[in-house]
Amino acid sequence: MSLALTRNELIRPLNLIDGTWTGAADGARFAVTNPATGETIAEVANSSAADARAATDAAARAFPAWRDKLPRERAEILRRWHALIVANTEDLAKLMSTEQGKPLAESRGEVAYGASYVAWFADEATRIYGDLIPQQQRGKRMSAVKEPVGVVAAITPWNFPLAMIARKIAPALAAGCTVIAKPAEDTPLTALALAALAQEAGLPNGVLNMLSASRENGIAAVADWLADARVRKITFTGSTPVGKHLARESAATLKKLSLELGGNAPFIVFDDADLDAAVTGLMAAKFRNGGQTCVCPNRVYVQAGVYARFADLLATRVAALKVAPATDPQAQIGPMINARAIDKIASHVEDAVKQGAKVLTGGKRLTELGPNYYAPTVLTDTRDGMLVCCEETFGPVAPLFRFDDEAEAIRLANDTPFGLAAYFYTQDVRRIHRVAGQLEAGVIGINEGAVSSEAAPFGGVKESGYGREGSKYGLDDYLSIKYLCQGGLD
Ligand code: SIN
Repeated sequence: MSLALTRNELIRPLNLIDGTWTGAADGARFAVTNPATGETIAEVANSSAADARAATDAAARAFPAWRDKLPRERAEILRRWHALIVANTEDLAKLMSTEQGKPLAESRGEVAYGASYVAWFADEATRIYGDLIPQQQRGKRMSAVKEPVGVVAAITPWNFPLAMIARKIAPALAAGCTVIAKPAEDTPLTALALAALAQEAGLPNGVLNMLSASRENGIAAVADWLADARVRKITFTGSTPVGKHLARESAATLKKLSLELGGNAPFIVFDDADLDAAVTGLMAAKFRNGGQTCVCPNRVYVQAGVYARFADLLATRVAALKVAPATDPQAQIGPMINARAIDKIASHVEDAVKQGAKVLTGGKRLTELGPNYYAPTVLTDTRDGMLVCCEETFGPVAPLFRFDDEAEAIRLANDTPFGLAAYFYTQDVRRIHRVAGQLEAGVIGINEGAVSSEAAPFGGVKESGYGREGSKYGLDDYLSIKYLCQGGLD
């Protein structure tokens, strides 16, 4: 896919620091490649700790003036940013599909999804209320006000190059924080374009700083942020091991943390479910972004009475999915992000088959399309102990596990250190309440596979992390509460 945009200036291979687009201090660069072809799209700044420090300096300087703006003034800038994102949908979608591989229709959807967080938090900026505490003693007045935490470091993944960074930056800016951000090394171009649009919307210099870095350099850049006491909060979406590392390393300066980490979502189909609805829900949840989302069902538990029928219905739908480059208007599944991802998917399927699983459809690489394509796959006769059960596959593979009763389904679903999303299908209203109450996850889809929304609190429990993004709760992580006690009033 050649990268010619309507506005080619949205391709920014530089860092944004203090309102200036600049290369890495030592001039280093690295290549961003198209996962469909392996071709280089652009060479971007390969930032080091020195660049990370410059970004923190700028954000710390910009903080007091941004904090002191009226909430309405911050909201206006966010609204202009939202309008610019929407107006540049086609360019952003094209950029995203080129560096990440998702079909263009999905990229357009992601632009709208990411923009919705900006609009949402523009409104929320004007609703940051405190409390006047009912009087406890004569002559004393007590109140609680909310203040921005300060400089926020946002570290984001490659699977949603626009939405994940928008839903961190927007609430931070709405709250009055300034931001230093590092998008994933695979997909920095969409995020840098988003920063260019924020600048165009009138965001003052230093309020949003963004830098790109390779995996190795990114570790050093983030280490600088972790050690810097001026950085008061880290918000991260990515793997659980990295989340734990950030929690450990930020302990020295006790930063506030939001961690949206790995999932291993169960999807339970009870024998009283509407099977067609369950298949449709699973298709939406499992094959979004080629199975590369943290909320994708990883383990599909189907009750014995409907197992064979459900497997047939699902295999028919999955076999019909069109796998093609993002530019093909019919594409439903694009390439996976890189060679590591495709190797992991292949190794999970091989392991399952070696242990007795059957491939109903798929089960192979599609090398005729390019290096990173994998056929959408349905596996039956999968069981505990297989890699597809205990690790996040992060690809288009649906392994079907059989269960006999409700207690067993809940036990199996919860038998994981993770707890991001869980889904179940049943038409029994009493079961809905029982099961929803017992599933250990932060997000529950009940007869529904599409759960994400800017108006809903998104986040996990257990080793899937803490903090919530989106909704009225999404601002809390960027605010601290100050208690004011005024005496001498009698
Ligand atoms: C994720 O995969 O981390 C986010 C998915 C979403 O927002 O729906």
